[in-house]
Amino acid sequence: MQSMFSRATLFRTKRPDADLTRPSGLLPVLTAWDLTLLGIGCIIGTGIFVLTGIAAAEQAGPAVVLSFVVSGFACAFAALAYAELSSSVGGCGSAYGYSYAAFGEFMAWIIGWDLVLEYGVSVAAVANGWSGYFNTGLAGLTQKLHDWYGLNIDLTLPMQLTRGPFAHDPVTHLATPGIVNLPAVAIILILMGILIVGIKQSARLNTVMVIVKLSTIAIFLAVSVGHIQPSLWTPFMPFGWFDTLPDGKTVGVLAGASVVFFAYVGFDAVSTAVEEAKNPSRDVPIGILSSLVFCTIIYIIVSGVLTGIVPYSSLNVKEGSPVAYALQQIGFNGASILVSTGVIFGLTTVMLVLYYGLTRIIFAMSRDGLLPATLGEVNEKTHTPVRTTVICGVVMAVMAGFIPLGTLAELVNIGTLVAFVLVCIGVIVLRRRYPDMKRPFEAPFGILIPILGVLSCGALVFFLPFLTQLRFVLWLLVGLVIYFAYSVHHSKLRADTK
Ligand code: ALA
Repeated sequence: MQSMFSRATLFRTKRPDADLTRPSGLLPVLTAWDLTLLGIGCIIGTGIFVLTGIAAAEQAGPAVVLSFVVSGFACAFAALAYAELSSSVGGCGSAYGYSYAAFGEFMAWIIGWDLVLEYGVSVAAVANGWSGYFNTGLAGLTQKLHDWYGLNIDLTLPMQLTRGPFAHDPVTHLATPGIVNLPAVAIILILMGILIVGIKQSARLNTVMVIVKLSTIAIFLAVSVGHIQPSLWTPFMPFGWFDTLPDGKTVGVLAGASVVFFAYVGFDAVSTAVEEAKNPSRDVPIGILSSLVFCTIIYIIVSGVLTGIVPYSSLNVKEGSPVAYALQQIGFNGASILVSTGVIFGLTTVMLVLYYGLTRIIFAMSRDGLLPATLGEVNEKTHTPVRTTVICGVVMAVMAGFIPLGTLAELVNIGTLVAFVLVCIGVIVLRRRYPDMKRPFEAPFGILIPILGVLSCGALVFFLPFLTQLRFVLWLLVGLVIYFAYSVHHSKLRADTK
């Protein structure tokens, strides 16, 4: 018997095609179109409405367009790597499963644990943000009912029901406790219900919401384009490529790129849908790449237009959205309603797809024995992992309802970037170890793309704040404890190779 700390134990790899043919009980019903819309659903959220303005004002100036291009390239390299491995290795565990085949169980666990953090924290943190926009929307509606129809109906929720007991003011840092963030809890539980009902129904709802959020962006562009003043684009790069200010703040196009990277987070979640795709080896790469290309184009256009209609330095809006602010400046009535609609629907689809991805990754880890077996069960009627969906939903609802998660949201960028780096290295390792493996989609130019992916995503990790890096390491250490306390003893691969 091998010791649990032996090299053979920790680095035993799974056959790369182990998940390709394994019946999972999940229903393969998603088309390339569904997958592309799931990608867009998960990519476009608050990032475009909030970070574009902040990164322009504080880091890149009008060259925020270049920040989006740089980040877009880093994501494109990673997306090509995801496309290759999702079509050849498959499995709904995504980066976790690819790492199992390339680096062995220990790294697979680390990356699986990382993804649980990334997806789980994002859903709970995004629910907090969603709740804020929802409350603002209710206040706006109350005002409009009064202004337009003379109605005095207060639709807003009492303050105690919009924030948890540990809430504090982000500017003054004073405690502003409430009882529970009810809208945040409610939206997670609603999404839980939708994901339980079935994947096709979830994808349909996602499509409707994606259409609404894209329409708000189209309206923004339509009303803004006539107000562009090209002179506002100069100076184009007021902060250069990269610089550190005396107060330690990083500025420049590259620092902006690591901030706006958040706006791209999500396309990787498409790869967790492999086992529910009709024709996975073809459709999943299409879904990943087309959603990324589409969103990159949208981001470049929106950030170019935004910095063309108001001075970039005025976009440093702390409350609300810089996009709404810019629309107000050009005299567009109803700016806040338009942006709130875009953000509320945008955030709902982001949560829906990330929540979905979280359940599939946990499902895959449990199927391999690294998490309790009950999390890998599929309900016979709905063909969805109901128990995992409920457990995740309840845990995230409690987190979102009672814990202020603002700072934790920063962990999402680092978690995603580390997963991207590993997936790119995974492509290189698997090309060398299994040169003849069937690769329905293969990233072009040999191993150049994954190498560029490692370098660009690795560099973006470097540009992130030190505190974020430290928090991430702490989370991984917690993961190590769980791995050695539970997973290593229950690993199916270990049992099979004893
Ligand atoms: N990419 C997603 C957003 O921008 C997470 O909100």
